[in-house]
Amino acid sequence: MTDKYAVIGNPIAHSKSPIIHAEFAKQTNQDISYEAVLAPLNSFEMKVRELIELGYKGANVTVPFKFEAFAIVLPSSRALDAGAVNMLRFLDTEIRGDNTDGLGLVRDIKQNLGVNIANKRILLLGAGGAAEGVLHPLLEESPALLVIANRTLEKASSMQKKVELKNEHRTYLLNAQAFDDLAHQQFDIVINATSTGLTDTALPIPSSIFAEGCLAYELMYGRETPFMAQARAAGAQVSDGLGMLVEQAAEAFFIWRGVRPQTAPVIAMLRNN
Ligand code: ATR
Repeated sequence: MTDKYAVIGNPIAHSKSPIIHAEFAKQTNQDISYEAVLAPLNSFEMKVRELIELGYKGANVTVPFKFEAFAIVLPSSRALDAGAVNMLRFLDTEIRGDNTDGLGLVRDIKQNLGVNIANKRILLLGAGGAAEGVLHPLLEESPALLVIANRTLEKASSMQKKVELKNEHRTYLLNAQAFDDLAHQQFDIVINATSTGLTDTALPIPSSIFAEGCLAYELMYGRETPFMAQARAAGAQVSDGLGMLVEQAAEAFFIWRGVRPQTAPVIAMLRNN
């Protein structure tokens, strides 16, 4: 019997997840269906319950429901770290929630882009939900330094404090800064986790932050953002978040189905579309 999965969001029409999971299923001979499901903004939980009633096995969760999802699941430790959930498993008596976003980013950087994170100087731009989602998996790679810079400094500081409270990850330096503090500093990996790409807004960051051979990574995908253009002009290696999207999906697929799909052909297919 075909096992049913879905991605729930609002909006959802342009989601690439159904194409990605269909490719994974084809590759691995898994008998699944996967569709995009629109949930009204005030009815996320109701939609989840509806899918469970219909016999679905699990779902991905995307904007704006990742925090609401966290509130109705039994969270994995990764989901607890992120405070958000991007995938659900519907078991007989409970809903399990996990977060594969950060792992997706780390895999894309290391495996697809061939850049090591260990001992590197990392700058994470932004302190919203997207930044929270990737912080812990980045720290687990043991960078030499991780600076969180945000327009609202308090939010970056509170992210830093939360990590320190957990009293782990002691081998690196973690720092919260305002954009103004970034002059005279250089980084090996700069990750844009702000939402400025959505509005085509440039960030007030100096181009001198991109060290020689720097990787500039934009979490969004689909178009060249002002951050990507600035990094490119400064000589950095630039990537958008398409590889991360496919990698987070692959990890979810693995958790659901127990088989790991190949991501490179799917990333290539999406790039060529
Ligand atoms: P997301 O889920 O995409 O992370 P979010 O939680 O609303 O969305 O966070 C948006 C992030 O983009 C925040 O870090 C925000 O900075 P503030 O915390 O100061 O609001 C950042 N951001 C949005 N617009 C920005 C802009 N024009 N310049 C700088 N940072 C911006």
